[in-house]
Amino acid sequence: MAASYKNLEIIILAAGRGTRMRSSAPKVLHALAGKPLLQHVIDTAQQLNPTQIHVVVGHGAGAVQKALANQDLIFHTQLEQLGTGDAVACALPACRPNTVVLVLFGDVPLIAASTLQALISGAQDHPIMLAARLDDPRGYGRVLRDEEGHFLAVVEQADASEAQASINEVNTGVLAAPTEQLLALLNRVENDNAQQEYYLPDVLGLAQQDGTDVAIAITKDPLEMYGVNDRLQLQTLERALQCRRADALMAAGVAVADRQRIDIRGELDCGVDVEIDINVVFEGRVSLGDGVKIGAHCVLKDVVVASGTDIQPFCHLEGADVGEHCRIGPYARIRPGSVLAETARVGNFVETKNTFLGVGSKANHLAYLGDTAVGAQSNIGAGTITCNYDGVNKHPTIVGDSVFVGSNSTLVAPINLSDGAFVAAGSVVTSNVPEKELAVGRGRQRNISGWLRPDERKD
Ligand code: UD1
Ligand code: CA
Repeated sequence: MAASYKNLEIIILAAGRGTRMRSSAPKVLHALAGKPLLQHVIDTAQQLNPTQIHVVVGHGAGAVQKALANQDLIFHTQLEQLGTGDAVACALPACRPNTVVLVLFGDVPLIAASTLQALISGAQDHPIMLAARLDDPRGYGRVLRDEEGHFLAVVEQADASEAQASINEVNTGVLAAPTEQLLALLNRVENDNAQQEYYLPDVLGLAQQDGTDVAIAITKDPLEMYGVNDRLQLQTLERALQCRRADALMAAGVAVADRQRIDIRGELDCGVDVEIDINVVFEGRVSLGDGVKIGAHCVLKDVVVASGTDIQPFCHLEGADVGEHCRIGPYARIRPGSVLAETARVGNFVETKNTFLGVGSKANHLAYLGDTAVGAQSNIGAGTITCNYDGVNKHPTIVGDSVFVGSNSTLVAPINLSDGAFVAAGSVVTSNVPEKELAVGRGRQRNISGWLRPDERKD
Protein backbone atom coordinates (compact mmCIF):
# COMPACT_ATOMS: atom_id res chain seq x y z
CA MET A 1 0.00 0.00 0.00
CA ALA A 2 1.18 3.56 -0.66
CA ALA A 3 3.24 4.97 2.20
CA SER A 4 0.99 7.99 2.69
CA TYR A 5 -1.84 5.80 3.93
CA LYS A 6 -2.50 5.32 7.57
CA ASN A 7 -2.66 1.71 8.56
CA LEU A 8 -5.89 0.07 7.64
CA GLU A 9 -8.30 -1.89 9.83
CA ILE A 10 -11.20 -3.65 8.12
CA ILE A 11 -14.43 -4.56 9.87
CA ILE A 12 -16.78 -6.96 8.09
CA LEU A 13 -20.32 -7.23 9.42
CA ALA A 14 -21.72 -10.73 9.39
CA ALA A 15 -23.89 -11.05 12.49
CA GLY A 16 -27.30 -10.42 10.96
CA ARG A 17 -29.97 -13.06 10.93
CA GLY A 18 -30.77 -12.78 7.26
CA THR A 19 -34.43 -13.41 8.02
CA ARG A 20 -35.47 -12.77 4.43
CA MET A 21 -33.46 -15.78 3.18
CA ARG A 22 -35.81 -18.07 5.12
CA SER A 23 -32.95 -20.47 5.72
CA SER A 24 -31.49 -22.35 8.66
CA ALA A 25 -28.03 -21.33 7.46
CA PRO A 26 -26.65 -17.87 8.21
CA LYS A 27 -27.14 -15.61 5.21
CA VAL A 28 -23.44 -14.79 4.79
CA LEU A 29 -22.67 -18.50 4.25
CA HIS A 30 -24.97 -18.84 1.26
CA ALA A 31 -22.89 -19.42 -1.84
CA LEU A 32 -22.40 -17.05 -4.72
CA ALA A 33 -20.48 -18.64 -7.61
CA GLY A 34 -19.66 -21.57 -5.34
CA LYS A 35 -18.17 -19.47 -2.54
CA PRO A 36 -19.84 -18.10 0.61
CA LEU A 37 -20.93 -14.47 0.31
CA LEU A 38 -18.71 -13.58 3.25
CA GLN A 39 -15.67 -15.29 1.75
CA HIS A 40 -15.94 -13.04 -1.32
CA VAL A 41 -15.74 -10.03 0.97
CA ILE A 42 -12.81 -11.46 2.95
CA ASP A 43 -10.86 -12.29 -0.20
CA THR A 44 -11.31 -8.72 -1.40
CA ALA A 45 -10.34 -7.36 2.03
CA GLN A 46 -7.12 -9.40 1.97
CA GLN A 47 -6.11 -7.74 -1.29
CA LEU A 48 -5.94 -4.40 0.54
CA ASN A 49 -3.21 -5.62 2.93
CA PRO A 50 -4.89 -4.41 6.11
CA THR A 51 -3.21 -4.62 9.53
CA GLN A 52 -6.18 -6.64 10.80
CA ILE A 53 -9.48 -7.98 9.49
CA HIS A 54 -12.28 -8.11 12.03
CA VAL A 55 -15.40 -10.16 11.42
CA VAL A 56 -18.45 -9.43 13.55
CA VAL A 57 -20.45 -12.61 14.01
CA GLY A 58 -23.68 -13.24 15.88
CA HIS A 59 -26.46 -15.24 14.30
CA GLY A 60 -25.00 -18.69 13.55
CA ALA A 61 -21.62 -17.53 14.89
CA GLY A 62 -20.34 -21.09 15.32
CA ALA A 63 -21.10 -22.06 11.74
CA VAL A 64 -19.64 -18.83 10.37
CA GLN A 65 -16.41 -19.19 12.35
CA LYS A 66 -16.11 -22.82 11.28
CA ALA A 67 -16.57 -21.89 7.62
CA LEU A 68 -13.79 -19.30 7.95
CA ALA A 69 -11.35 -21.44 9.94
CA ASN A 70 -7.60 -21.03 9.44
CA GLN A 71 -7.74 -17.56 7.99
CA ASP A 72 -6.08 -14.60 9.58
CA LEU A 73 -9.23 -13.06 11.07
CA ILE A 74 -10.27 -11.61 14.40
CA PHE A 75 -13.80 -12.55 15.41
CA HIS A 76 -16.05 -10.41 17.57
CA THR A 77 -19.42 -11.59 18.78
CA GLN A 78 -22.43 -9.31 18.65
CA LEU A 79 -24.75 -10.95 21.15
CA GLU A 80 -27.92 -9.21 20.04
CA GLN A 81 -28.43 -7.93 16.52
CA LEU A 82 -29.12 -4.33 17.43
CA GLY A 83 -28.12 -2.87 14.09
CA THR A 84 -25.11 -2.19 11.92
CA GLY A 85 -23.90 0.63 14.19
CA ASP A 86 -23.92 -1.67 17.20
CA ALA A 87 -22.12 -4.35 15.17
CA VAL A 88 -19.29 -1.96 14.26
CA ALA A 89 -19.07 -0.91 17.90
CA CYS A 90 -18.29 -4.53 18.80
CA ALA A 91 -15.08 -4.47 16.77
CA LEU A 92 -13.97 -0.85 16.84
CA PRO A 93 -12.29 -0.94 20.30
CA ALA A 94 -9.99 -3.68 18.98
CA CYS A 95 -8.82 -1.49 16.10
CA ARG A 96 -5.40 0.07 16.54
CA PRO A 97 -5.18 3.83 17.13
CA ASN A 98 -4.16 6.18 14.37
CA THR A 99 -5.58 3.97 11.66
CA VAL A 100 -8.31 4.22 9.07
CA VAL A 101 -11.20 1.82 9.43
CA LEU A 102 -13.08 0.42 6.47
CA VAL A 103 -16.49 -1.17 7.08
CA LEU A 104 -17.74 -3.82 4.68
CA PHE A 105 -20.97 -5.80 4.76
CA GLY A 106 -20.86 -9.56 4.57
CA ASP A 107 -23.91 -9.50 2.32
CA VAL A 108 -22.44 -7.13 -0.29
CA PRO A 109 -20.08 -9.66 -1.88
CA LEU A 110 -18.77 -8.15 -5.10
CA ILE A 111 -17.31 -4.92 -3.89
CA ALA A 112 -14.08 -4.35 -5.86
CA ALA A 113 -10.67 -3.87 -4.27
CA SER A 114 -9.89 -0.98 -6.63
CA THR A 115 -13.00 0.91 -5.49
CA LEU A 116 -12.06 0.36 -1.86
CA GLN A 117 -8.49 1.49 -2.45
CA ALA A 118 -9.78 4.83 -3.71
CA LEU A 119 -12.16 5.09 -0.79
CA ILE A 120 -9.45 4.51 1.81
CA SER A 121 -7.25 7.23 0.37
CA GLY A 122 -10.23 9.60 0.70
CA ALA A 123 -10.75 8.75 4.37
CA GLN A 124 -7.51 9.94 5.92
CA ASP A 125 -9.17 12.73 7.93
CA HIS A 126 -12.91 12.54 7.42
CA PRO A 127 -15.57 9.92 6.74
CA ILE A 128 -16.35 8.80 3.24
CA MET A 129 -19.19 6.62 2.05
CA LEU A 130 -19.72 4.71 -1.14
CA ALA A 131 -23.04 5.47 -2.81
CA ALA A 132 -24.66 4.40 -6.06
CA ARG A 133 -27.55 5.55 -8.25
CA LEU A 134 -30.11 2.85 -8.93
CA ASP A 135 -33.17 2.69 -11.14
CA ASP A 136 -34.82 0.65 -8.41
CA PRO A 137 -33.55 1.87 -5.01
CA ARG A 138 -35.99 -0.20 -2.96
CA GLY A 139 -34.58 -1.68 0.24
CA TYR A 140 -31.48 0.50 0.38
CA GLY A 141 -30.78 3.50 2.60
CA ARG A 142 -31.30 6.74 0.58
CA VAL A 143 -28.79 9.59 0.45
CA LEU A 144 -30.37 12.92 1.41
CA ARG A 145 -28.83 16.12 0.06
CA ASP A 146 -29.79 19.81 0.37
CA GLU A 147 -30.73 22.02 -2.60
CA GLU A 148 -27.08 22.70 -3.33
CA GLY A 149 -26.37 19.01 -3.38
CA HIS A 150 -24.51 18.90 -0.05
CA PHE A 151 -24.82 15.67 1.88
CA LEU A 152 -27.28 15.72 4.78
CA ALA A 153 -27.89 12.18 5.99
CA VAL A 154 -28.79 8.60 5.05
CA VAL A 155 -32.39 7.58 5.64
CA GLU A 156 -33.33 3.90 5.75
CA GLN A 157 -36.19 2.56 3.65
CA ALA A 158 -38.25 1.87 6.78
CA ASP A 159 -37.92 5.49 7.93
CA ALA A 160 -38.22 7.22 4.57
CA SER A 161 -41.10 9.50 3.64
CA GLU A 162 -42.67 8.97 0.23
CA ALA A 163 -40.59 11.80 -1.21
CA GLN A 164 -37.40 10.41 0.31
CA ALA A 165 -38.22 6.92 -0.95
CA SER A 166 -38.24 8.28 -4.50
CA ILE A 167 -34.56 9.28 -4.21
CA ASN A 168 -32.48 6.91 -6.27
CA GLU A 169 -29.09 7.64 -4.76
CA VAL A 170 -28.41 4.90 -2.21
CA ASN A 171 -25.93 3.86 0.44
CA THR A 172 -23.90 0.79 -0.59
CA GLY A 173 -23.07 0.14 3.05
CA VAL A 174 -19.36 0.65 2.51
CA LEU A 175 -17.85 3.37 4.65
CA ALA A 176 -14.37 4.43 5.72
CA ALA A 177 -13.23 6.88 8.38
CA PRO A 178 -10.38 7.64 10.76
CA THR A 179 -10.81 5.13 13.59
CA GLU A 180 -11.02 7.53 16.56
CA GLN A 181 -13.43 9.76 14.64
CA LEU A 182 -15.73 6.87 13.86
CA LEU A 183 -15.67 5.70 17.49
CA ALA A 184 -16.66 9.15 18.78
CA LEU A 185 -19.48 9.45 16.24
CA LEU A 186 -20.75 5.95 16.87
CA ASN A 187 -21.07 6.61 20.60
CA ARG A 188 -23.66 9.26 19.76
CA VAL A 189 -25.86 7.12 17.47
CA GLU A 190 -29.34 6.46 18.90
CA ASN A 191 -31.92 3.85 17.98
CA ASP A 192 -34.98 6.11 17.78
CA ASN A 193 -36.08 4.87 14.36
CA ALA A 194 -38.65 2.56 12.81
CA GLN A 195 -36.58 -0.57 13.43
CA GLN A 196 -35.19 0.53 16.81
CA GLU A 197 -31.73 -0.30 15.56
CA TYR A 198 -28.42 1.51 15.82
CA TYR A 199 -27.84 2.46 12.21
CA LEU A 200 -24.21 2.76 11.14
CA PRO A 201 -24.95 5.35 8.41
CA ASP A 202 -26.25 7.70 11.12
CA VAL A 203 -22.60 8.54 11.87
CA LEU A 204 -22.51 10.34 8.54
CA GLY A 205 -25.48 12.56 9.42
CA LEU A 206 -23.88 13.35 12.79
CA ALA A 207 -20.56 14.22 11.16
CA GLN A 208 -22.35 16.54 8.78
CA GLN A 209 -24.11 18.26 11.69
CA ASP A 210 -20.71 18.76 13.36
CA GLY A 211 -19.50 20.53 10.25
CA THR A 212 -17.13 17.67 9.40
CA ASP A 213 -16.76 16.98 5.71
CA VAL A 214 -18.53 13.82 4.55
CA ALA A 215 -17.23 12.65 1.22
CA ILE A 216 -19.36 10.54 -1.08
CA ALA A 217 -17.88 8.36 -3.75
CA ILE A 218 -20.22 6.95 -6.37
CA THR A 219 -19.82 3.53 -7.90
CA LYS A 220 -21.13 3.08 -11.41
CA ASP A 221 -21.03 -0.69 -11.28
CA PRO A 222 -24.37 -2.03 -10.07
CA LEU A 223 -22.92 -5.48 -9.35
CA GLU A 224 -20.31 -4.36 -6.88
CA MET A 225 -22.79 -2.67 -4.59
CA TYR A 226 -25.53 -5.27 -4.87
CA GLY A 227 -26.69 -6.44 -1.43
CA VAL A 228 -28.15 -9.92 -0.95
CA ASN A 229 -31.14 -10.06 1.38
CA ASP A 230 -33.29 -12.82 -0.07
CA ARG A 231 -32.96 -15.79 -2.40
CA LEU A 232 -34.23 -13.91 -5.41
CA GLN A 233 -31.52 -11.28 -4.96
CA LEU A 234 -28.94 -14.04 -4.54
CA GLN A 235 -30.07 -15.71 -7.75
CA THR A 236 -30.18 -12.39 -9.60
CA LEU A 237 -26.63 -11.56 -8.53
CA GLU A 238 -25.42 -15.07 -9.36
CA ARG A 239 -26.76 -14.85 -12.89
CA ALA A 240 -25.44 -11.34 -13.43
CA LEU A 241 -22.00 -12.44 -12.22
CA GLN A 242 -22.04 -15.54 -14.42
CA CYS A 243 -23.05 -13.51 -17.46
CA ARG A 244 -20.15 -11.17 -16.76
CA ARG A 245 -17.78 -14.13 -16.57
CA ALA A 246 -19.20 -15.54 -19.81
CA ASP A 247 -18.69 -12.17 -21.49
CA ALA A 248 -15.06 -12.10 -20.37
CA LEU A 249 -14.55 -15.58 -21.80
CA MET A 250 -16.06 -14.57 -25.12
CA ALA A 251 -13.89 -11.47 -25.22
CA ALA A 252 -10.90 -13.79 -24.81
CA GLY A 253 -11.93 -15.98 -27.76
CA VAL A 254 -14.10 -18.66 -26.19
CA ALA A 255 -17.32 -19.73 -27.93
CA VAL A 256 -19.95 -19.78 -25.19
CA ALA A 257 -23.22 -21.27 -26.46
CA ASP A 258 -25.38 -19.30 -24.06
CA ARG A 259 -24.15 -16.72 -21.53
CA GLN A 260 -27.27 -17.43 -19.44
CA ARG A 261 -26.45 -21.12 -19.17
CA ILE A 262 -22.90 -21.43 -17.88
CA ASP A 263 -21.73 -21.63 -14.27
CA ILE A 264 -18.19 -20.92 -13.21
CA ARG A 265 -17.92 -21.65 -9.51
CA GLY A 266 -14.19 -21.23 -9.25
CA GLU A 267 -11.47 -20.33 -11.73
CA LEU A 268 -11.63 -21.21 -15.40
CA ASP A 269 -8.70 -20.67 -17.77
CA CYS A 270 -9.31 -21.17 -21.46
CA GLY A 271 -7.17 -21.20 -24.57
CA VAL A 272 -8.50 -19.88 -27.86
CA ASP A 273 -11.35 -21.44 -29.82
CA VAL A 274 -12.62 -23.36 -26.85
CA GLU A 275 -16.30 -24.25 -27.28
CA ILE A 276 -18.59 -24.52 -24.27
CA ASP A 277 -22.08 -25.78 -24.91
CA ILE A 278 -25.05 -25.08 -22.63
CA ASN A 279 -25.42 -25.93 -18.94
CA VAL A 280 -21.79 -26.67 -18.19
CA VAL A 281 -20.69 -26.24 -14.57
CA PHE A 282 -17.06 -25.51 -13.71
CA GLU A 283 -15.89 -25.91 -10.13
CA GLY A 284 -12.55 -25.39 -8.43
CA ARG A 285 -9.74 -24.75 -10.90
CA VAL A 286 -10.31 -25.81 -14.47
CA SER A 287 -7.98 -25.26 -17.37
CA LEU A 288 -8.98 -25.91 -20.99
CA GLY A 289 -6.42 -25.90 -23.80
CA ASP A 290 -6.91 -24.47 -27.28
CA GLY A 291 -9.80 -25.90 -29.25
CA VAL A 292 -11.23 -27.98 -26.41
CA LYS A 293 -14.94 -28.72 -26.82
CA ILE A 294 -17.20 -29.24 -23.83
CA GLY A 295 -20.60 -30.69 -24.67
CA ALA A 296 -23.87 -29.82 -23.02
CA HIS A 297 -24.57 -30.67 -19.37
CA CYS A 298 -21.05 -31.49 -18.23
CA VAL A 299 -19.63 -30.88 -14.76
CA LEU A 300 -15.87 -30.29 -14.50
CA LYS A 301 -14.14 -29.86 -11.17
CA ASP A 302 -10.40 -29.34 -10.73
CA VAL A 303 -9.41 -30.68 -14.12
CA VAL A 304 -6.84 -29.87 -16.75
CA VAL A 305 -7.82 -30.63 -20.33
CA ALA A 306 -5.17 -30.32 -23.02
CA SER A 307 -5.81 -28.88 -26.45
CA GLY A 308 -8.03 -30.48 -29.04
CA THR A 309 -9.88 -32.76 -26.65
CA ASP A 310 -13.57 -33.32 -27.15
CA ILE A 311 -15.75 -33.91 -24.10
CA GLN A 312 -19.18 -34.96 -25.22
CA PRO A 313 -22.45 -34.23 -23.38
CA PHE A 314 -23.34 -35.38 -19.86
CA CYS A 315 -19.83 -36.10 -18.58
CA HIS A 316 -18.62 -35.63 -15.04
CA LEU A 317 -14.91 -35.05 -14.49
CA GLU A 318 -13.18 -34.38 -11.20
CA GLY A 319 -9.51 -34.20 -10.22
CA ALA A 320 -8.39 -35.39 -13.64
CA ASP A 321 -5.67 -34.61 -16.13
CA VAL A 322 -6.73 -35.14 -19.73
CA GLY A 323 -4.19 -35.10 -22.56
CA GLU A 324 -4.44 -33.73 -26.07
CA HIS A 325 -6.99 -34.90 -28.62
CA CYS A 326 -8.81 -37.27 -26.30
CA ARG A 327 -12.47 -38.08 -26.69
CA ILE A 328 -14.61 -38.54 -23.63
CA GLY A 329 -18.28 -39.40 -23.31
CA PRO A 330 -21.10 -38.97 -23.73
CA TYR A 331 -21.99 -40.06 -20.17
CA ALA A 332 -18.51 -40.72 -18.81
CA ARG A 333 -17.47 -40.33 -15.19
CA ILE A 334 -13.83 -39.46 -14.70
CA ARG A 335 -12.97 -39.46 -11.00
CA PRO A 336 -10.00 -38.10 -9.02
CA GLY A 337 -6.58 -39.39 -9.96
CA SER A 338 -7.54 -40.18 -13.53
CA VAL A 339 -4.90 -39.35 -16.11
CA LEU A 340 -5.58 -39.77 -19.80
CA ALA A 341 -2.67 -39.64 -22.20
CA GLU A 342 -3.13 -38.09 -25.62
CA THR A 343 -5.73 -39.56 -27.99
CA ALA A 344 -7.15 -41.84 -25.28
CA ARG A 345 -10.87 -42.52 -25.43
CA VAL A 346 -13.38 -43.05 -22.70
CA GLY A 347 -16.91 -43.70 -23.84
CA ASN A 348 -20.40 -43.97 -22.42
CA PHE A 349 -21.05 -45.29 -18.94
CA VAL A 350 -17.37 -45.74 -18.19
CA GLU A 351 -16.06 -44.82 -14.75
CA THR A 352 -12.38 -44.28 -14.05
CA LYS A 353 -10.77 -43.63 -10.69
CA ASN A 354 -7.06 -43.29 -9.92
CA THR A 355 -6.39 -44.66 -13.37
CA PHE A 356 -3.92 -43.98 -16.12
CA LEU A 357 -4.96 -44.62 -19.69
CA GLY A 358 -2.03 -44.62 -22.11
CA VAL A 359 -1.68 -43.05 -25.55
CA GLY A 360 -4.47 -44.11 -27.88
CA SER A 361 -5.99 -46.60 -25.43
CA LYS A 362 -9.74 -47.01 -25.33
CA ALA A 363 -12.43 -47.90 -22.85
CA ASN A 364 -15.43 -47.14 -24.95
CA HIS A 365 -18.41 -48.71 -23.22
CA LEU A 366 -19.73 -49.65 -19.77
CA ALA A 367 -16.61 -50.23 -17.69
CA TYR A 368 -15.10 -49.55 -14.28
CA LEU A 369 -11.37 -48.94 -14.08
CA GLY A 370 -10.08 -48.27 -10.56
CA ASP A 371 -6.43 -48.11 -9.40
CA THR A 372 -5.41 -49.15 -12.88
CA ALA A 373 -2.58 -48.31 -15.24
CA VAL A 374 -3.13 -49.05 -18.91
CA GLY A 375 -0.29 -48.74 -21.43
CA ALA A 376 -0.52 -47.48 -25.00
CA GLN A 377 -2.93 -48.68 -27.70
CA SER A 378 -4.79 -51.11 -25.47
CA ASN A 379 -8.48 -51.84 -25.73
CA ILE A 380 -10.68 -52.33 -22.71
CA GLY A 381 -13.84 -54.07 -23.87
CA ALA A 382 -17.41 -53.26 -22.98
CA GLY A 383 -18.37 -54.29 -19.49
CA THR A 384 -14.83 -54.72 -18.15
CA ILE A 385 -14.64 -54.37 -14.39
CA THR A 386 -11.51 -54.07 -12.30
CA CYS A 387 -12.14 -55.63 -8.89
CA ASN A 388 -9.78 -53.31 -7.06
CA TYR A 389 -11.31 -53.59 -3.60
CA ASP A 390 -11.40 -56.72 -1.48
CA GLY A 391 -13.49 -55.14 1.22
CA VAL A 392 -10.44 -53.96 3.16
CA ASN A 393 -7.69 -52.89 0.79
CA LYS A 394 -7.38 -51.46 -2.70
CA HIS A 395 -5.19 -53.33 -5.20
CA PRO A 396 -3.67 -52.26 -8.54
CA THR A 397 -4.38 -53.55 -12.02
CA ILE A 398 -1.53 -53.20 -14.51
CA VAL A 399 -2.30 -53.49 -18.21
CA GLY A 400 0.56 -53.23 -20.70
CA ASP A 401 0.70 -51.91 -24.26
CA SER A 402 -1.51 -53.33 -27.04
CA VAL A 403 -3.52 -55.47 -24.65
CA PHE A 404 -7.00 -56.55 -25.67
CA VAL A 405 -9.48 -57.15 -22.88
CA GLY A 406 -12.59 -58.84 -24.26
CA SER A 407 -16.06 -57.73 -23.29
CA ASN A 408 -17.54 -58.46 -19.90
CA SER A 409 -14.26 -59.42 -18.29
CA THR A 410 -13.57 -59.24 -14.59
CA LEU A 411 -9.99 -58.38 -13.65
CA VAL A 412 -9.41 -59.38 -10.04
CA ALA A 413 -6.63 -57.20 -8.62
CA PRO A 414 -3.78 -57.29 -7.89
CA ILE A 415 -3.20 -58.42 -11.45
CA ASN A 416 -0.88 -57.80 -14.34
CA LEU A 417 -1.67 -58.20 -18.03
CA SER A 418 1.62 -57.92 -19.94
CA ASP A 419 2.12 -56.31 -23.36
CA GLY A 420 0.11 -57.91 -26.11
CA ALA A 421 -1.97 -60.05 -23.73
CA PHE A 422 -5.44 -61.00 -24.89
CA VAL A 423 -8.33 -61.74 -22.56
CA ALA A 424 -11.22 -63.75 -23.93
CA ALA A 425 -14.62 -62.21 -23.50
CA GLY A 426 -16.44 -63.09 -20.32
CA SER A 427 -13.29 -64.09 -18.42
CA VAL A 428 -12.72 -63.79 -14.72
CA VAL A 429 -8.98 -63.13 -14.64
CA THR A 430 -7.36 -64.00 -11.32
CA SER A 431 -3.75 -64.62 -12.30
CA ASN A 432 -1.24 -62.64 -14.34
CA VAL A 433 -1.24 -62.99 -18.13
CA PRO A 434 2.22 -63.16 -19.75
CA GLU A 435 3.12 -61.27 -22.93
CA LYS A 436 1.02 -62.08 -25.97
CA GLU A 437 -0.79 -64.98 -24.29
CA LEU A 438 -4.51 -65.57 -24.42
CA ALA A 439 -6.30 -65.87 -21.10
CA VAL A 440 -9.58 -67.72 -21.10
CA GLY A 441 -11.11 -67.66 -17.68
CA ARG A 442 -14.61 -69.01 -18.03
CA GLY A 443 -16.56 -72.25 -18.07
CA ARG A 444 -16.27 -74.11 -21.35
CA GLN A 445 -19.48 -74.10 -23.38
CA ARG A 446 -21.13 -77.46 -23.99
CA ASN A 447 -24.04 -78.07 -26.32
CA ILE A 448 -26.46 -80.87 -25.47
CA SER A 449 -28.04 -82.45 -28.46
CA GLY A 450 -31.51 -83.96 -28.23
CA TRP A 451 -32.38 -81.74 -25.31
CA LEU A 452 -36.13 -80.98 -24.95
CA ARG A 453 -37.89 -77.97 -23.49
CA PRO A 454 -40.10 -78.91 -20.47
CA ASP A 455 -43.28 -78.40 -22.53
CA GLU A 456 -41.94 -80.72 -25.20
CA ARG A 457 -41.29 -83.59 -22.75
CA LYS A 458 -43.74 -86.51 -22.80
CA ASP A 459 -43.81 -87.51 -19.12
C1 UD1 B 1 -27.91 -1.69 5.08
C2 UD1 B 1 -27.81 -0.18 5.32
C3 UD1 B 1 -28.43 0.56 4.15
C4 UD1 B 1 -27.72 0.14 2.86
C5 UD1 B 1 -27.72 -1.37 2.69
C6 UD1 B 1 -26.78 -1.75 1.58
C7 UD1 B 1 -27.91 0.24 7.72
C8 UD1 B 1 -28.76 0.60 8.88
N1 UD1 B 1 -28.51 0.17 6.53
O1 UD1 B 1 -29.28 -2.04 5.07
O2 UD1 B 1 -28.29 1.97 4.33
O3 UD1 B 1 -28.36 0.75 1.75
O4 UD1 B 1 -27.24 -2.03 3.87
O5 UD1 B 1 -26.80 -3.12 1.31
O6 UD1 B 1 -26.73 0.03 7.88
N2 UD1 B 1 -25.50 -6.85 10.57
C9 UD1 B 1 -24.86 -7.17 11.74
N3 UD1 B 1 -25.47 -6.88 12.93
C10 UD1 B 1 -26.69 -6.27 13.00
C11 UD1 B 1 -27.33 -5.96 11.78
C12 UD1 B 1 -26.71 -6.25 10.58
O7 UD1 B 1 -23.75 -7.72 11.74
O8 UD1 B 1 -27.15 -6.05 14.12
C13 UD1 B 1 -24.82 -7.16 9.29
C14 UD1 B 1 -25.59 -8.16 8.43
O9 UD1 B 1 -25.15 -9.46 8.68
C15 UD1 B 1 -25.27 -7.71 7.03
C16 UD1 B 1 -24.98 -6.23 7.15
O10 UD1 B 1 -24.73 -5.99 8.53
O11 UD1 B 1 -24.10 -8.36 6.54
C17 UD1 B 1 -26.15 -5.37 6.66
O12 UD1 B 1 -27.31 -5.68 7.41
P1 UD1 B 1 -28.74 -5.69 6.76
O13 UD1 B 1 -29.73 -5.98 7.83
O14 UD1 B 1 -28.75 -6.56 5.56
O15 UD1 B 1 -28.90 -4.15 6.33
P2 UD1 B 1 -29.82 -3.56 5.16
O16 UD1 B 1 -31.21 -3.50 5.63
O17 UD1 B 1 -29.53 -4.27 3.92
CA1 CA C 1 -28.42 -6.07 3.39
